[in-house]
Amino acid sequence: MLTQDQIKEKIGKYAADYVKPGMKVGLGTGSTVFYLLKELGRRKAQGLSFTAVCTSVQTQRILSEEGIEFRTLDEVDRLQVAIDGADEIDPAGNMIKGGGGALLREKIVEYNADELIIIVDEKKLVDHLGAFPLPVEVVTFGWKQVRQQLVDNYRIDASRREKNGTPFITDQGNYILDCHFGVITDPVQLNTDIHLIPGVVETGLFTGMADKAITGYADGTIKLIEYNQSY
Ligand code: A5P
Repeated sequence: MLTQDQIKEKIGKYAADYVKPGMKVGLGTGSTVFYLLKELGRRKAQGLSFTAVCTSVQTQRILSEEGIEFRTLDEVDRLQVAIDGADEIDPAGNMIKGGGGALLREKIVEYNADELIIIVDEKKLVDHLGAFPLPVEVVTFGWKQVRQQLVDNYRIDASRREKNGTPFITDQGNYILDCHFGVITDPVQLNTDIHLIPGVVETGLFTGMADKAITGYADGTIKLIEYNQSY
């Protein structure tokens, strides 16, 4: 049986096959994507040429270490493919993302890709979203009022994310509120409703975006799931 890290490594390497020569590629964030980036670094050294756009400063740093140049999203027109992890994914391909705090850039980059491929180990496959706390990115001004609005509207616990005892600041200079919904029955509606609260920048609900999921299992198998998305 493989460990979780070994599963992530296997999926990351497998997903590198979707990066073809000359492609414009959006690269996600997180511990699963880490292995994809390492593999792309290896393939780049062997001559694979592609244009990378990053979804976080963390991913930029890893690419630099791997000797892979990257562009900003505005420097490229459109991406052929984006590859990223997720915190939860349901049978329709709806996801919670943002456990690493990169949800805003991830959503912008991935919205502008022709194809979104998600790489996850079997633990991320869920029947209903919501056991993982939903990250909501908010501007720092008035964040307490936004938090209270979420608590009052949905009767949930919501806390400002902290790192090493200080507020976590996203790459865009915002805060994250982690919202404990438990079960989310209508992710599309919830995403729309949360966006109506002034001060909310983005939510970690990625609905109708994933085209494929590459999923890895402890017995070493890899399965490809395809979704019928409308975006
Ligand atoms: C980053 O903000 C997230 O959206 C990640 O894509 C997600 O947390 C998955 O990360 P892991 O692969 O580390 O679990």
